[in-house]
Amino acid sequence: MDVIEAGIGRGAVPAGYRLPPERDLARTLGVSRATVVSAYRELESRGLVRGYVGRGTFVSAKPDGGGAPFAWRGKIAASALQATDTTVRDLVRAASDPGLLSLAAGEPALDAFPIEAFRQAMDGVLTKNASVAWRHGPTEGMPRFRTALADRFGGDPEHVLVISGAQQGLDLLTRCLVDPGDAVIVDRPGYLGAIQSFRKAGARLVGWDIVRADVDELEELLLRYRPKLIYTNPTHQNPTGVTLPIRTRRELLELAARYRVPIVEDDTYRELGLEATPPPSLFKLDEARTIVIRVNSFSKMLAPGLRLGWISAVNPIIEQLALIKQQIDPHTQNLVQLVVCQLLETGVFDRHLTTLKAEHRRRRDAMVHAIRQHVPPGALRFTVPDGGMYLWCRLGPRVRARAVQDYAARESVVVVTGEPFYVDQGGANELRICYTSQPADRAVRAAQVLARSLAAATREGSDVPAATVRLV
Ligand SMILES: Cc1ncc(COP(=O)(O)O)c(C=O)c1O
Repeated sequence: MDVIEAGIGRGAVPAGYRLPPERDLARTLGVSRATVVSAYRELESRGLVRGYVGRGTFVSAKPDGGGAPFAWRGKIAASALQATDTTVRDLVRAASDPGLLSLAAGEPALDAFPIEAFRQAMDGVLTKNASVAWRHGPTEGMPRFRTALADRFGGDPEHVLVISGAQQGLDLLTRCLVDPGDAVIVDRPGYLGAIQSFRKAGARLVGWDIVRADVDELEELLLRYRPKLIYTNPTHQNPTGVTLPIRTRRELLELAARYRVPIVEDDTYRELGLEATPPPSLFKLDEARTIVIRVNSFSKMLAPGLRLGWISAVNPIIEQLALIKQQIDPHTQNLVQLVVCQLLETGVFDRHLTTLKAEHRRRRDAMVHAIRQHVPPGALRFTVPDGGMYLWCRLGPRVRARAVQDYAARESVVVVTGEPFYVDQGGANELRICYTSQPADRAVRAAQVLARSLAAATREGSDVPAATVRLV
């Protein structure tokens, strides 16, 4: 045994080498077979060899000496290695860092969250319904919650799938509908999480200018690319704040029906209008309920930390999505479904929305006012939004949004640049500012930092030869 061990140690007996069969070695050495068997077992227990029934005993690969780190990178699936974009993770991390003033992640006014009502509803669930909360639940969602969702937001309870946030919904829809190479039309600019999801599936992404919202242009794209689906966020859109008028909605539906292309409507911001009520959703206008799949979330209406949303669609789609969801998340947390269900049923939710919108209006006005006071005219151009959570800002053509972002970060203010919202080149001179996430009394500081950052980025930009500046 010592001879074999020394040979392995020196490398004279290489990994993968098959040791002689026990009987042969015993005969050669003139010892009993039992002696060889026990020697081989001893070597195996020390990880030097490995025996395979019917195949023999083989020298194992030498363990890494010197505590060298295990090379995990080499083990990661090629498809996973493509997930290199850290934008979403950076945004949510910055939002949860109390040392930063984040205008980046899309968060509603969390100080308006109905904590007391939530606590009472949770107490109620735990007193009366704890076993339901702790058991497994249906993948489609708790039946009572699905009914409450359909009652409040339209649709049929049977055609609702409860999900752990809209981003999960987009992932499920991508897995359900998109094959590599499929063309997908998305808003330009559009929600970055949707873009990431479709891109990860190998979709060919085609942007439709959501601000111009020209349906002839959309028809051309439909003809040219024969897309698998259209993804749009037509109400208080992220990032632009645009809401498509009713006429465009009808034309969009008409086109989708004519070209037989499903629409994924992201309706996350519908309830966050600050002025007039927005036109009905595409989902509602699609009266036959055939081609629109609607994704929704409580992240912006209550809190993103709840991780709660739902999808409404016809049954073959809900059924297929549930089959996919069970593999990655057997069902969304029961407790949060039961509690939010109570908030919906008791009217707390609607009262909360009224308070929330009043606070959002205050925050929007404070931010717009502070920017007008502290940022030189023209340096940050935006349309004051009538809902949603963002100011979509255009900078001067020579001012790089990345530079503004970097200068602002040095003063602990976080903004997000336009690039991740585009499926093609674009966004280098645009910034998104979330005006709802910070109390109104921080608006002045935010605007002052932005003004300094813009000034510094403008100086930097004027040093760059015009030819290297990408104009959008
Ligand atoms: C348009 C849109 N869809 C989906 C999401 C994801 O939301 P959730 O937190 O529910 O995953 C967001 C979040 O910013 C969003 O803006």
